[in-house]
Amino acid sequence: MITPHGGVLVENYLSPEEVLKYQEELPGLKKIVLDSVEISDLELIANGAFSPLTGFMNEKDYLGVLHHNRLANGLVWTIPITLSIPVELSSKYFEGDLVALVSPKEVLLGIMQVEAIYHRNRQEEALSVYGTLDKKHDGVNYLFSKGEILLGGKVKAVKANLPREFGNYRLTPKQLRGEFEARNWKSVVAFQTRNPIHRAHEYLQKVALEMVDGLLIHPLVGFTKPGDIPAEIRMRCYEVIIANYYPSNRVKLSVFPAAMRYAGPKEAVFHALVRKNYGCTHFIVGRDHAGVGNYYGTYDAQNIFDQFAPEEIGIDILKFENTFFCTKCGNMASAKTCPHQSDRQIFLSGTKVRQMLSEGMQLPEEFTRPEISQILMEYYHNLIN
Ligand code: ADX
Repeated sequence: MITPHGGVLVENYLSPEEVLKYQEELPGLKKIVLDSVEISDLELIANGAFSPLTGFMNEKDYLGVLHHNRLANGLVWTIPITLSIPVELSSKYFEGDLVALVSPKEVLLGIMQVEAIYHRNRQEEALSVYGTLDKKHDGVNYLFSKGEILLGGKVKAVKANLPREFGNYRLTPKQLRGEFEARNWKSVVAFQTRNPIHRAHEYLQKVALEMVDGLLIHPLVGFTKPGDIPAEIRMRCYEVIIANYYPSNRVKLSVFPAAMRYAGPKEAVFHALVRKNYGCTHFIVGRDHAGVGNYYGTYDAQNIFDQFAPEEIGIDILKFENTFFCTKCGNMASAKTCPHQSDRQIFLSGTKVRQMLSEGMQLPEEFTRPEISQILMEYYHNLIN
């Protein structure tokens, strides 16, 4: 089984006795209310998806990530994992505090031992992580909506109180590793996605599956920007396509409960490292991975990997050109495999897809399988009516 990032798979849950104890002490504890992004991060720190992180970042790790794409110990890491509070509240907390991390409904989600309280420079962070200060960028907009004071320190989560949507599909790194072992998969390719599956996705997955033992379809189901298709709908698409077009014994569907950052290249590296923690040996990076708008070049998310030695990443990156259906070839292709002109290519932009579906139009079969088109048409129909 592939070694987790940094060597050890973290697991940070409170024991049942600890949960009882903190539950009792809760009224007297200092609290921080987490938003949905922070709740996702807490879950992924606790279940080991973010190994080697054991908590929200302290200042050295945070600055290391911003300045060098590395944690203080030198390990590659490209996305800050932070817990913020507004400046007005900063005098309430001190280093050494034990703080209760609670949901907006004040449910105890975990506890944090505060090791560091420090200022962040949101402009510097925006430029480093997102490459822009433009608040029209969803990640930048979120960043500037958050406080300037960060609290770093180890966390332990209350497993039973973490989100539970998607039930049996919400497998932890440990569980997925166990699953791969049980299936005797020595090599597993992971596919990150935040969109409903279309033919290009299917092509990438199947080309990769020709080379490895198993495929992990790992849709991100945490925070996504308004306008993205909800995770429940996307999951139905995956269930239907696997049932109709995939060899079920070579595919595993499980959700990735992370928030989307839309950080393009930086997020691609992060996505890859985290999938290594889930036990995957290969990771697919296609066109404009984790991109939004026109903030990143088509292949920036592939080129960033050139900055690191392959062993520092530790999971094989499978890079794919822009793919499309070619009507002359009669199959999926890319510029690498197809000599025909672009008028032969069937590929629809997200905007075009939304427009067609809103107007009740079936998407072309060369773009999306009819079963998927049907689910999406129903979704848009219900949305409008
Ligand atoms: S992402 O934000 O999760 O990257 P999306 O779900 O659209 O968005 O893409 C999932 C993966 O498929 C990413 O690696 C992306 O680069 C890749 N991809 C999507 N469409 C294409 C395409 N037409 N050609 C090549 N790669 C693609």
